[in-house]
Amino acid sequence: MATTRRSFIQRLGVAGGAGLAYSALASLELAPAAAADSFQPLTPRDRPGPGHRSVVVLGGGPAGLCSAYELRKAGYRVTLLEARQRPGGRVWSARGGTVETDLRGERQECRFSDGHHLNVGATRIPQDHLTLDYARELGVPIVPFGNQNANTYVRYAGPTSLNNKPIRYRQAKADLLGYVSELLAKATQRGSLDDTLSTEDKERLAEFLSSYGDLSSDGRYLGSDRRGYVTEPGAGTEFGEVGDPASLSETVRSGIGRNFAFDFGYDQAMQMLTVAGGMDQLHRAFARELGRDVIKYGAEVISCKNTPQGVTVEYKIDKRVRRIEADYVICTIPPHLVPRLQHNLSAEVVAALRTPVPLSSGKLGIEYRRRWWELDDRIYGGASNTDLDIAQIMYPSDNLHAKRGVVVGYYSTGPRHERFDVLNHAGRVAKALDEGAQIHGDKYRKGIAATFSGAWKQTRYSEGAWVSWPGGAEQSAAYRALLEPAGRIYFAGDHLSNAIAWQHGAFVSARAVVGQLNERAHR
Ligand code: FAD
Ligand code: ALA
Repeated sequence: MATTRRSFIQRLGVAGGAGLAYSALASLELAPAAAADSFQPLTPRDRPGPGHRSVVVLGGGPAGLCSAYELRKAGYRVTLLEARQRPGGRVWSARGGTVETDLRGERQECRFSDGHHLNVGATRIPQDHLTLDYARELGVPIVPFGNQNANTYVRYAGPTSLNNKPIRYRQAKADLLGYVSELLAKATQRGSLDDTLSTEDKERLAEFLSSYGDLSSDGRYLGSDRRGYVTEPGAGTEFGEVGDPASLSETVRSGIGRNFAFDFGYDQAMQMLTVAGGMDQLHRAFARELGRDVIKYGAEVISCKNTPQGVTVEYKIDKRVRRIEADYVICTIPPHLVPRLQHNLSAEVVAALRTPVPLSSGKLGIEYRRRWWELDDRIYGGASNTDLDIAQIMYPSDNLHAKRGVVVGYYSTGPRHERFDVLNHAGRVAKALDEGAQIHGDKYRKGIAATFSGAWKQTRYSEGAWVSWPGGAEQSAAYRALLEPAGRIYFAGDHLSNAIAWQHGAFVSARAVVGQLNERAHR
């Protein structure tokens, strides 16, 4: 396949991290200077001229906050209008005292104990993401996030002895990888791959498979202590007892390996990180840096128009409509919500904004009075996976060994989450407990101190978890249209990046737009 400029840059990003990708962009003269290294303020010679200094940023999620922060560094006069009473947008950490009324009118008040939270949106950070750089720059502490844990469970419906019950992830992995290694070793030995492998290749492959699958000296998978113990090894003659694996056929038919590739993903591989005490702390730090002179909360934008001189934005605050005029707008409001504003955008831009499809997702936090997953199941972080609608149960990576803890009772997306979207909070809790009990048994229903759920399709000012571009962003004329300003209105957000559903996507998009705008202000 021919290497497009975009796929070339994407591959650089994969191989060398965001920094390398940016310097490559810069050397191709595709990147604004500001994007080459955001962690330096724009140089004084880049400061805007007197006539082009003011920008109104619509939305105080990661893209809006980052835009305002970088613009301020460069000397622009910035006003950021955020409809909610908090910064962060889809980066939302619910804790004791959080109150939210959804679009159907259901009000929830979070009653988690002090020090506990649920990241209803963003929760994990890959090592290559700019999110970490902003956390470093703003002095926000980060901690490891357990994205994968061998002690968690998999539970899938099916016809074999491995189905319809929880089995440890480590057991599933040892058995399936053991058998797959045995099969490949046999196929190699029998000459099935002779047209592909030399004698030496076959020897090296056999060595690898023997170690990868923990095979016996005659190349069979007979079980392994990698799968865990029925009786743990201990002192003296307590040698430990390893259980026998199910047959190869059952192991393959059970489908227990369907999620093994999750953490092979570029952006899901350990080591993952998170912000200590809740992801929103990063965005509260941006907000502190910007100050209340820049950010207006409870400011719902209702109109955004190009004028011959610049832009005019109207917003409602305390039920009063106010108007602000500026040289430019950076609009980070989710694309599907922008056409609802009063505007004078072209039909083409409106059609482009309507193109990406918002998806359903959400989470339920359950605070237990006892950390039974640590005490009984020896699970410290990570997630159990299932084909039930809850999709996964995530165990806290923080507050280890505390008395209480918040378990994520579900985090599902698409049709599986749509079945939670239609329920009220009590219905979501009931369904999640029924399904979770199929993994953890009756204790899953006991000792619950508080619950809180968020469904992004039902959440005002978001109405979706993230978007997908029909046919993919790369092929989308609508996507490309929104990369250009509509007059003096620029669009930014994770939806205009190649890291949709990641804060990183919002940051790179914001930085690209700040660079574009800054360049224009100097022309
Ligand atoms: P948003 O965060 O949506 O910000 C848009 C802002 O516009 C909001 O603050 C909104 O209130 C405001 N707004 C809307 N309408 C108006 C109006 N009329 N007037 C004024 N303001 C308005 N990212 C990660 O890095 N790691 C993760 O693990 C991760 N997990 C996720 C899990 C879920 C369930 C979800 C939903 C998201 C997750 N993300 C994750 C993605 C991350 O949250 C987003 O990529 C990021 O929030 C996008 O930022 P944004 O500024 O583009 O949009
Ligand atoms: N990036 C989001 C996650 O990792 C969707 O859960």
